[in-house]
Amino acid sequence: METTAAPTRPVPLHPGLPFLGNTIAFVRDPLSILHTLQRKQERIVHLRIGGRHQYLVFQPEDSKHILQENNRNYGRSPAFEVLKIFLGNGLLTSDGDFWRRQRRLAQPAFHRQKLAALADAMVAETADWLDTLNPSDIRQPINVSQAFMDVTMRIVCKTLFGSDTNGKLDGLSHALDSLNYLANSRMLSPIRFPMSWPTPHNQRSKRAQRQVDEFIYGLIDQRRQQHEDKDDLLGMLLSAEDEETGERMSDQQLRDECVTLFSAGHETTAVSMAWTTYLLTQNPDILARLQVESETILGDARTPPADAFRRLTYTMQVVQESLRLYPPAWIMSRRAREDDHIGPYTIPAGDTALVCPYLLHRDPVNWPDPERFDPDRFAPGGPKDQLHSYAYLPFGGGPRLCIGNQFALMEMQILLALFVRKFSVSGPPNQRIVPKPLITLRPNQPIKAILSKP
Ligand code: HEM
Repeated sequence: METTAAPTRPVPLHPGLPFLGNTIAFVRDPLSILHTLQRKQERIVHLRIGGRHQYLVFQPEDSKHILQENNRNYGRSPAFEVLKIFLGNGLLTSDGDFWRRQRRLAQPAFHRQKLAALADAMVAETADWLDTLNPSDIRQPINVSQAFMDVTMRIVCKTLFGSDTNGKLDGLSHALDSLNYLANSRMLSPIRFPMSWPTPHNQRSKRAQRQVDEFIYGLIDQRRQQHEDKDDLLGMLLSAEDEETGERMSDQQLRDECVTLFSAGHETTAVSMAWTTYLLTQNPDILARLQVESETILGDARTPPADAFRRLTYTMQVVQESLRLYPPAWIMSRRAREDDHIGPYTIPAGDTALVCPYLLHRDPVNWPDPERFDPDRFAPGGPKDQLHSYAYLPFGGGPRLCIGNQFALMEMQILLALFVRKFSVSGPPNQRIVPKPLITLRPNQPIKAILSKP
């Protein structure tokens, strides 16, 4: 097999500064470096970022090799250390046997039948949220980035933790947002003071973390006092027992899993929904087609039956195409345990391999006219179906595939269909948004839209 052939060539090194390598350029504008590298049409490129050697692959086959075929050779990269400070040792950041056990415990909460049972709650939460939005008065735009953060938080809270946000939404949303912002700036900063030092940055992080913890421990306590076994995610985590020792998770472990699912489960979906709205403000014909589909299939019931949403094929195509252009998880990194071979090249043990959905999704070989928003790429039997399965990776791949992928797709389909059934959207004049690659691919400023009756 080609990937195991003896290495014969050094990996092309992207030129950079002495000592700093490509760090400054990468921190300043990673997407433009990525585009430049893609145009060179190499199979793999060697970058030096943050004092580490990082190897970026471009081909779907090589991405599959790293994430799936040879996944046992790869662990969490040092980038996850920063996330660990905030999320603890939960599903996203943990590794090895501990991760495997936690994933086994959480997986049943995301099985197809379980998800189907959550659809009604998603529809009900979305309908309540839509009641709070009105057509924009005097064409005043609303901040859709924030609006979608609110609703995805309500949905995660209700569906996974069986709890209403009980009016604590503002504080929690603000605290999670601060944590996200602080984790980003720590990740990008060349100097990282230990968390125990009382710098203003660390103090703010700790305050936000306390607020999130208070909420999560509140959820756990509330459930314990109810003395009933619910089979939602929180119920499963609470009652899970180690097969060998019979031990249950400690409060700290429970907290880490809950914070992880909370953060991973609402921000990515909210950012995607905001990007989708942005794309629709620029593509009125696609918006009109979506509206016809949702009106025809859903009718005018406030909370249509969950079954109906599965028939919204064009809505799903719009969601998938939006995730192609703006994949929230724009890059994934892994640390090689042993040397790995990609064709004639070696990724040395201890160094980092990078797989980049953002580039895979914009490779003109697989996606002609890649910048164009064209949901028909995802039509049943259409161009996407002819591609390598790793040419499209919004949810990653292999054993670390996003545990919430079906949950997120269903949620976005429901949110989008009910949103466009109630509103037409247009952008404020001259709104030009560009992606800002932080931990997730965020817009460089909040996305705004003017809501009107369709
Ligand atoms: C549009 C929405 C979402 C996107 C684009 C997304 C993307 C991803 C990606 C790419 C990964 C793999 C990261 C890697 O391999 O390094 C991941 C992992 C994960 N996601 Fe998502 N996600 C989304 C929604 C969700 C939701 C709704 C949940 C939970 C309710 C969730 C929970 C997780 C967790 C726990 C992991 C870690 C899984 C593991 O390593 O075992 N995500 N997500």
